[in-house]
Amino acid sequence: MAIKKIVYVPDPILRKKSKPVPDINSNIHKLLDNMADTMYDAGGVGLAAPQIGILKRVIVIDTREEEGPGLIEMINPEILEARGTQSGPEGCLSIPGLNGEVERRAYIKVRGLNRDGDEVIMEAEDFLATVFQHEIDHLEGILFTDKAKTVYQIDPEKDDDQDE
Ligand code: CO
Repeated sequence: MAIKKIVYVPDPILRKKSKPVPDINSNIHKLLDNMADTMYDAGGVGLAAPQIGILKRVIVIDTREEEGPGLIEMINPEILEARGTQSGPEGCLSIPGLNGEVERRAYIKVRGLNRDGDEVIMEAEDFLATVFQHEIDHLEGILFTDKAKTVYQIDPEKDDDQDE
């Protein structure tokens, strides 16, 4: 397990589309471990593989909510259903110093694979739904600043927000 270097804007890798993972092997397990380590080290609540320079459809999420699900690892995630809208502030580990108000779907149903290769279907609402949408956007080369209604600077030293 290792903490990896986070890729920052304007690195073009963040704008590329990530490739589906055809089979889950020890390299993918290592990638998942490294992504979780990197996310926790950076104080984030989510991380997508392109944020450490790997163009594979892999995300990790931990909203660290008391009633939350803990660490979520998902390979080849896709949104099956979405309902409603919500709006809230977002940040991104790849875009230090900026936050923005982003409209997202309020409820989503997501399908993907876990590290054992089993299909997993998850429902998410509120903040967890936002984080899923933010991370899945990364796999398409989309950043929150593309969708934000407003983007504003924050002091990175005082940034205790939950970046994705
Ligand atoms: Co992000």
